[in-house]
Formats: sequence, structure tokens, C-alpha cells
Amino acid sequence: MKSDLEWQRRYEENDTPWDKGEVAPALARYLREGKIAGRVLVPGCGRGHEVRALGELPKTTVVGLDVSAAAVAQAKGLAAQMSSEQEVSFVVGDFFHLPVKLRRSFDWVVEHTCFCAIEPHRRQDYVRAAAAALRSDGKIFGIFYLNPETESGPPFAVSREELVELFDPHFTPMEEWVPKEAFAGREGRELVRIMQKR
Ligand SMILES: C[S@@+](CC[C@H](N)C(=O)[O-])C[C@H]1O[C@@H](n2cnc3c(N)ncnc32)[C@H](O)[C@@H]1O
Repeated sequence: MKSDLEWQRRYEENDTPWDKGEVAPALARYLREGKIAGRVLVPGCGRGHEVRALGELPKTTVVGLDVSAAAVAQAKGLAAQMSSEQEVSFVVGDFFHLPVKLRRSFDWVVEHTCFCAIEPHRRQDYVRAAAAALRSDGKIFGIFYLNPETESGPPFAVSREELVELFDPHFTPMEEWVPKEAFAGREGRELVRIMQKR
């Protein structure tokens, strides 16, 4: 179990084995299709690799959110080295208590290794938080880590059946695939789902 303070400690001590230093391959591949645009939220953004990759897209404004102030400080440092054209920003905050001004303001939520990091009993809260962040018809692009090689999480495993049970009452599933592109060790263990808010 990781509290907010524990996430903070991990970033302060650079003890972040989940961080591969670059955008998740499945997202990088999808970005080439040019289907994501508008306002995008990346919850649990860590050092912001997905945020910066999304920030390269035209007509796209990206907000990275993380409970760890150290993660956000490091994400800001990395983003500062990018093109000043990028419309990216970072907020320290809890996805389960999204600041009012961010609610119902996003076209996309991009999920990568936040869902698997939260306690499983909070998964309904995650679905509610994603719905609360999105405008009507907004979408989730989610890379879900199905079966990480860990005895106890995080990361916590999730089955496709559970994802269907959790999300489908609130989101219409649009596309789903097991990505060929994945970080080493995660091949065949991820499921990408694109879902639209009902
Ligand atoms: C496993 S890390 C993944 C970070 C990043 N997505 C990556 O792949 O490098 C999970 C992240 O979620 C953040 N986090 C955990 N609970 C959160 C919450 N309730 N709201 C926002 N961020 C949260 C942690 O601080 C941490 O940065």
C-alpha cells in the first residue's frame, strides 16, 4: 500500500522502477494516428513522459496531475527542456478530489499506470473521477496493466472482466486491443481500451 507520502518519498529518493524514462509505447503508437486532440488529463502522471508526448500534438492542451509534489517538480523540470510551443501544465493534486476548475473540462483522460497503482478498493472511485473530469462524450485512452509480475501491489493486477464491469456502465467501449508495443517485461500484459463517457 502506498500513501501520498510514500509516493513522495519514492520520487525524492529516485526509487521509481516503474518509470521507463519515456512515453508508453502503446500511447506513442496511438499518437501517430492523430486521433487525440483537445484538452487532455493525465492522472498520476509521474515525471510526465505521457504529458510531454501528448504536448507535441497540434491543437492539444495537456494537464498532468499527481499527488506527489516531487513528481510534479521533476515533470516540470523535464517539460521546461521541451519546445516552448507545448501547451502542457502540471498540478499537484488527488485524482479522487479533482480541483473544481478541472471538472468536466477534458476531452480525453489518458491512463498509464495510475489505475494499477491505486488500491483496488478505490477502482469505482477512479471510474467516477474519470467521468467527473470529462466533458460529455469525452473519452478515456487507457493502458491497463493486466497481470504485473508482483505478488502484492502496486502494481495491482486487473482482469478484462473487471474492467468491463467497472467502466462499461459509465463508458461505451469503442476499441480494445493488446498492444504489440510495450516496455520490456510488459509485453502481452497490457490491454488498451478506448471508452467514451455515456
Ligand atoms: C506507478 S506510478 C506511475 C507514474 C507514471 N504514470 C509513469 O508511468 O511513470 C503511479 C503514480 O500515480 C500517482 N498517484 C497515486 N495515487 C494518485 C492519486 N490519487 N491522484 C493522483 N496521482 C496519484 C503517484 O504519485 C505516482 O506518480
